[in-house]
Amino acid sequence: MSTTETEQAHLHTLHLLSVDQLNPDELFTIFEETDRMREALHTSGQARELAGRHLGKSVCTLFYEPSTRTRLSFERAAVATGATVISTENAREFSSAAKGETIEDTVRVLGEYCFSALVLRHHETGAAIRAAAVSNIPIINAGDGKGEHPTQAILDAYTIYERFGRLDNLNITLGGDLKRGRTARSLVKLLAQFEGNRFVFVSRPELAMEPDITDRLESTGSAYANTTSKKRGFGNADVIYWTRDQKERAEDLAIPDESPDPAYVIEKTDLTDIPPTAIIMHPLPRVGEIAVEVDEDPRAVYFKQAGNGLYTRAALLDRVLRASE
Ligand code: CP
Repeated sequence: MSTTETEQAHLHTLHLLSVDQLNPDELFTIFEETDRMREALHTSGQARELAGRHLGKSVCTLFYEPSTRTRLSFERAAVATGATVISTENAREFSSAAKGETIEDTVRVLGEYCFSALVLRHHETGAAIRAAAVSNIPIINAGDGKGEHPTQAILDAYTIYERFGRLDNLNITLGGDLKRGRTARSLVKLLAQFEGNRFVFVSRPELAMEPDITDRLESTGSAYANTTSKKRGFGNADVIYWTRDQKERAEDLAIPDESPDPAYVIEKTDLTDIPPTAIIMHPLPRVGEIAVEVDEDPRAVYFKQAGNGLYTRAALLDRVLRASE
């Protein structure tokens, strides 16, 4: 199916490939829609009504990398709004990618199958942009290599807004593998749009935040600092956003003797260094970089944060499905 220029322009606004497509007003509108989704999903009458909204539509979730939260929250959201879901959870092995098919050809074919949206996770940075360039249906980037994870950043920002009632003038400390972690990259890009935010990056030097992000902070006038000391990162923090070692993107980096490196693990004993008003976030999965004992602390919000993924993704999917009518 070929698309006209007008249809292409409309599609362009529906793809969600990067947080750079959002401005603060649009983000706050998504938050309002997210609030409505949260209420609807917890109110039986509204949930029933919502379940009839997109009957007859179908969403494809095409995942070339493993996922628990992103895929299942999108699929749950699709079902909650009445759409059906067709999924491939290990497309690298079980789709024709294993025979050498390109993402472009796969997406062109899926465009012939009457889907209303395609949620795509891929191991290559830039794959979502390449897919969108040939797609006649909206693409939602569910994480592309070391590039971006825009829907994670939206749910992260929603979680921060829920706690502080603002997204500006915050001290935000991000720690762990900042070089290869796409969630941290997207969140920093998104929060750099707001005035007065100050970032502290805590990592081993070889896993420091990449220059494209720090250049962005310099261009937006956002203050930032790099440190190897978690204690330094914790001191003034409103938000502590911790991440795991992205071992699946090992590249030419030396494998550390111990992973997670104990210097970058949040232990129960670290809690005294963290302000009482701060929140501790993590995109999950965690693999030891936050001790399980920290979960009981009221500042630890990472499971609630993951739960917010359902509501934000329901809001995002509803937008896309409404626009496809
Ligand atoms: N945070 C996140 O993207 O989790 P999954 O890899 O489980 O989807």
